[in-house]
Amino acid sequence: MVSRTRPLKTRRAPHLTNSIGKRLDPRELLSSGDKQIDFDRLMTLAGRDVVSARDFDRETIIELCKFAALLELTEIASHHLLDGKLVITAFFEASTRTRLSFESAVQRLDGRIVSVPDGKTTGVAKGESLRDIGEMFNTYGDLVVMRHPETESLDQIRQHLLLPIINAGNGSGEHPTQAMIDIYTLLKWRPDLALDDCPADSAVHLAIIGTPGNMRAVKSFAMLALLFPTAFKRITVVSEMADPFGVELAAAIEASSVPVDVTNDVTDVLRDVDVIYINSIALLGDSYKQLDSRFKLDADRPLKDGAVILHPLARRDELDRSLDETEHNLYFAQAASAVFLRQALLITVLDRLHTLPPGVPYLAS
Ligand code: CP
Repeated sequence: MVSRTRPLKTRRAPHLTNSIGKRLDPRELLSSGDKQIDFDRLMTLAGRDVVSARDFDRETIIELCKFAALLELTEIASHHLLDGKLVITAFFEASTRTRLSFESAVQRLDGRIVSVPDGKTTGVAKGESLRDIGEMFNTYGDLVVMRHPETESLDQIRQHLLLPIINAGNGSGEHPTQAMIDIYTLLKWRPDLALDDCPADSAVHLAIIGTPGNMRAVKSFAMLALLFPTAFKRITVVSEMADPFGVELAAAIEASSVPVDVTNDVTDVLRDVDVIYINSIALLGDSYKQLDSRFKLDADRPLKDGAVILHPLARRDELDRSLDETEHNLYFAQAASAVFLRQALLITVLDRLHTLPPGVPYLAS
């Protein structure tokens, strides 16, 4: 498939991309466990839609993360891997990170973009259906990345769409690529969490603050975390709601051996957890609900030494800026991981793995 004839250049310094907070070195993920990337496994994603975290298994997520680490660490991006590919980014709902990091990922690999940064500039403003827009997209590009405020939007556009589509957030549904970025960030932080035989005393206690059933990024992240029973010894959901899970996540919890419990006492949990995942708002029908003020995090909270905080951002006042300069801040490293994970996914779904340059390290021989 790919020969190992000449070494690929590695970036001179570890590619530490965020300016404050914890900074992560991707080399540690690549040098731990099975050092070869299973590109044959990744190739099974070629041409596939990326709709839900449920569509992925643990091994595929790990290989995607290792490939992202390789992209972050080396200069593969300069080898024009998406040359000739045209990606449609169709955003019918506001975004900073997702649209711009997808577009940066494509452009840095020499692909091209057709962008809808605001759905109101399309025929939607005149009542056009997503079903018809899907039909149009078939001749406009090679892959669609779509965000939409309605959960049903993916089913609608897929009725006539022949191109692969990546779900960039559908209402209160899911945000699977954000969840992959979150796992990638955690595996860079603690590469041993990717090991099949992660020792029990290395497993982490994860707290999720919010209502995953109504928070798409959190829901997708929880679904992926549940695939790692040796890495997560417990997941505690801190929520004021009686049922914070919803049907799909409840089914994923049922299928996983990771113990999950619910509490509304955030202070008690913070003393024990190693990883805290917090989000800002939940979608409840047509409206947004902000996180309860009791659950806000700041530098005065009794966080365990070494504990890290993830937040998909954008934040409001639930995550105080006093945490930004601390070692608990993994959320800026999380945001900085987005381009590389999305590059790995785009190269894979667009079936361009065979164009990797010779000399790529960590390839199965
Ligand atoms: N994390 C995330 O989805 O951010 P944006 O809403 O800015 O895309």
